[in-house]
Amino acid sequence: MNGRPLIIALDFPDGKEVGGFLKKLPDQKLYVKVGMELFYQEGPSIIDQLKSAGHDIFLDLKLHDIPQTVKQAMKGLAKLDVNLVNVHAAGGSAMMQAAIEGLEAGTRAGSKRPDCIAVTQLTSTSEAMLNHELLIGKGLNETVLHYAKLAYESGLDGIVCSSLEVPEIYQHLDRSFHTITPGIRLAEDSLNDQVRVATPEKARELGSTAIVVGRSITKAKDPLTAYLQMKNAWEGLPV
Ligand code: C5P
Repeated sequence: MNGRPLIIALDFPDGKEVGGFLKKLPDQKLYVKVGMELFYQEGPSIIDQLKSAGHDIFLDLKLHDIPQTVKQAMKGLAKLDVNLVNVHAAGGSAMMQAAIEGLEAGTRAGSKRPDCIAVTQLTSTSEAMLNHELLIGKGLNETVLHYAKLAYESGLDGIVCSSLEVPEIYQHLDRSFHTITPGIRLAEDSLNDQVRVATPEKARELGSTAIVVGRSITKAKDPLTAYLQMKNAWEGLPV
């Protein structure tokens, strides 16, 4: 991953709404996140459009299947020439290694392999759910750290986690391992459904490699001002 980007989550239902939103951020070279909602509607064409406009892309499809299936799927995704993709660490080390093999096999000559990061635990998973539904008798933090180490040992490039978890991750893993952190809000923003949030300044101080910001920018009255304010705060510039 180059530098420490601010990644905008394009949580929109279709390409038309994405186009309307991007018109409000003219002349900006962005790093955007395309998730299942948008990709399952628009398919690879939305990636081509965003790339033609000069944007970097995190394709957030959270793959989780048998190793061979993930390997073949990643081989296909690498051909889209995105910058970042992801899997669920719960798929295990063989699956994560297969993801990297698939990406390497699918990356075109002369292109860089997309970075691959792991989701440790979804923020929607509570400790009670972990213990009583999934029958994992460990604490949430313990499993997040264990999955992070597993991802590291499997050759992945980083994880998605809360910025509040970042200092502990770097007590155990070196800083070449990326921490991509959603749950970012400006002090005056509404939390929506996020619980463990941090401001961009705090995320930087805690050591996040990149922040993912959705509604604070996409639902702002003036998205350009909100984006620049977030970006300056994240980069340690005057807001
Ligand atoms: O609107 P908001 O800034 O909360 O959006 C955050 C983005 O990050 C959404 O696309 C959400 O799905 C994603 N995300 C998250 N927490 C995770 C993993 C992904 O909020 N643990």
